[in-house]
Amino acid sequence: MPNEVLLRLEAVSKRFPGGVVGLDAMDLEVAPGEFLSLLGPSGCGKTTSLRVTAGFETPTSGRIFLDGRDITALRPFDRPVNTVFQDYALFPHMNVAENVGFGLSLRKVPAAAQRKQVATALDMVGLGEKISARVAELSGGQRQRVALARAIVCKPRILLLDEPLSALDAHLREHMQMELKRLQSSLGMTFVMVTHDQTEALSISNRIVVMNKGRIEQVASPALLYDRPATKFVAGFIGTMNLLEARLVGRDGATLRYMSGDLPLELSADQNEVSADGRAHTIGVRPEDLVATPSAGLATVPAKIESVVFHGRTLRMHAQLISGAPVIIDASRQAAETAFDIGDIVHVRQRPGANSVVLKA
Ligand SMILES: Nc1ncnc2c1ncn2[C@@H]1O[C@H](COP(=O)(O)OP(=O)(O)O)[C@@H](O)[C@H]1O
Ligand SMILES: [Mg+2]
Repeated sequence: MPNEVLLRLEAVSKRFPGGVVGLDAMDLEVAPGEFLSLLGPSGCGKTTSLRVTAGFETPTSGRIFLDGRDITALRPFDRPVNTVFQDYALFPHMNVAENVGFGLSLRKVPAAAQRKQVATALDMVGLGEKISARVAELSGGQRQRVALARAIVCKPRILLLDEPLSALDAHLREHMQMELKRLQSSLGMTFVMVTHDQTEALSISNRIVVMNKGRIEQVASPALLYDRPATKFVAGFIGTMNLLEARLVGRDGATLRYMSGDLPLELSADQNEVSADGRAHTIGVRPEDLVATPSAGLATVPAKIESVVFHGRTLRMHAQLISGAPVIIDASRQAAETAFDIGDIVHVRQRPGANSVVLKA
């Protein structure tokens, strides 16, 4: 939970006609100046969260506060909030300057001040020389920048961005991610961005909200989300994770000992809440935290390699443990390239010092 709160959603639900649940009692606090991402699969409620915050949708129940003020009933234009839409929603019959200055005109900002603010906003997004261009003359990336300039020019307290980069090709997209981050920190503005791309969320956010079926699964920093996913859903959504069913068999000081079939797993006791109820738990083990060796050793179990895929610095192997459980193992290329082939039997163990976690359902 942030110390200072700019935006607060309090038990916000949105039920659409026909009973479709868009949001299910969502609680969220956003700190001033942070870059927060809403991440989740299609249909999980990301856009609906932005639309209720901007005032384009009225929550079925719950309240929304900005700077401690209840804004639930305010019209969109009366909220100090701006939105960059997924399709940019530029006005095709207006040039770049007119598009960017539109909100200032509505607010009756004098012409000279408008010109200055429009020029500044366009400079901030690196599009100063296109001030008189027609929208139709612009590339996708340039349109994206115009939409950004139009959204920041009125200096909203909070900027909402709905999949702002999804229409760009991979290379431009990666570049624009860094640009967005730079823009957000130089403005000191609060950004709430929707994305379904975990790499994008991990690379530019201060915190990430993982959503599933209108609810929040976990809110955490990128590193914490990667290292300590709370649920199976989050573990499956962020990076690649082996989900191994295991039982607690003992505890040595700070180490919890589990067995997944014949595969011993060690977990840190202070990071993982456990109940020694004898039931199977799901343990998340990253591919880089499994080691495959050609010969058997202490704490290894045999597995059959089903595929070996080139991944740059590492090779990713899909294998099946003798227990039948499928596992994914990342090995450094030097170690693996000559040693392993499809059909080989290898011996798998957990890497000492691995960061494995107990996952909730
Ligand atoms: N105007 C609407 N009318 C009916 N159902 C809607 C409407 N907008 C969104 N939904 C439904 O609400 C759920 C959440 O949608 P949305 O917030 O757009 O998801 P996301 O942006 O995460 O893909 C989906 O099941 C979607 O079909
Ligand atoms: Mg959406």
